[in-house]
Amino acid sequence: MEQITLRRPDDWHLHLRDGAMLRAVAPESARHFTRAIIMPNLVPPVVTGADAAAYRDRIMAALPQDTAFTPLMTLYLTEDTDPDDVAQAHGDGIITSVKLYPAGATTNSASGVRDFDKVRPVLERMAEIGCPLCVHGEVTDNEIDIFDREAVFIDRVLDPIRRTTPGLRVVMEHITTRQGVEYARSGGPDLGATITTHHLVINRNHILAGGIKPHYYCLPVAKREEHRLALRAAATSGDPTYFLGTDSAPHTDPLKEQACGCAGCFTATNTMSVLAEVFEQEGALDKLEAFTSLNGPAFYGLPVNEVQMRLVKGDPVSYPEKIATDDGPVTVFDPQMPLHWRVAE
Ligand code: NCD
Ligand code: ZN
Repeated sequence: MEQITLRRPDDWHLHLRDGAMLRAVAPESARHFTRAIIMPNLVPPVVTGADAAAYRDRIMAALPQDTAFTPLMTLYLTEDTDPDDVAQAHGDGIITSVKLYPAGATTNSASGVRDFDKVRPVLERMAEIGCPLCVHGEVTDNEIDIFDREAVFIDRVLDPIRRTTPGLRVVMEHITTRQGVEYARSGGPDLGATITTHHLVINRNHILAGGIKPHYYCLPVAKREEHRLALRAAATSGDPTYFLGTDSAPHTDPLKEQACGCAGCFTATNTMSVLAEVFEQEGALDKLEAFTSLNGPAFYGLPVNEVQMRLVKGDPVSYPEKIATDDGPVTVFDPQMPLHWRVAE
């Protein structure tokens, strides 16, 4: 029997939502992951330390009694965010990072930042106290082609912010391009990047060729094959710059399968099987632990997980096509390939 053992993984970018959806999806992540960075794009968003503390309590209440899962909370940066509130919430251990959404970039980002000068005082304070900034790296200008929005963001927004705020630790969230891979690598120890499960598997053909496939639509949208290959090379390299952030983002089927479908792939359920398959295809199973369990804690200055996870190779494993929630069904990411690795704790 072929098997590998690794430290239990963490998810450095996760959407757990709220209410009925939270109750349905939280156990899916807690089954395999020990910690996760929890995205704050609720309606209304998580903008203050008090909001984050209340949301953390709701997440804990949604988890099965016997799970050891720690949500690492984030604040949603707005032009009104108070630097003192950020500093206090970070100092008290309520939040781990702050999330920057350019206004209008993605799901529930209307309260995001339009004028980056307005958030400069918050960013400066974060640099002082060592609170990392997680960045959704896409410009929102309608004149910019949606497939170019990440590369343009790096030049126009991210690089200037990093130059004017030395010492600010930044995570480029869910990078999807060769340019993202290269910029992250060049940034030194204050710059990291998360890569999702699905962007290692799909390119834009999966969404658009042979009919439109709403369950492969997410933001940032999957790009050309050359970019997927750059992401696979980065994730499987062992380079500490890159770590797993699944961006598992559940929406019910009716919301995905409509004239204006929501962005997001739901990967919490089968991520570890998919990743093991991808890393094996790349001849890099020995680098899986770095990507899922070592590089993230190192960037965030947190201890690695002591508990081990065993992955066993055998006949293809199947996962439910959908999970049920009281809001409606949520489709589980279909990697369109047999998955031979299963988690055997
Ligand atoms: C996320 C969501 O649904 O909240 N969607 C997505 O496609 N990734 C938002 C985000 O992370 O951009
Ligand atoms: Zn996300």
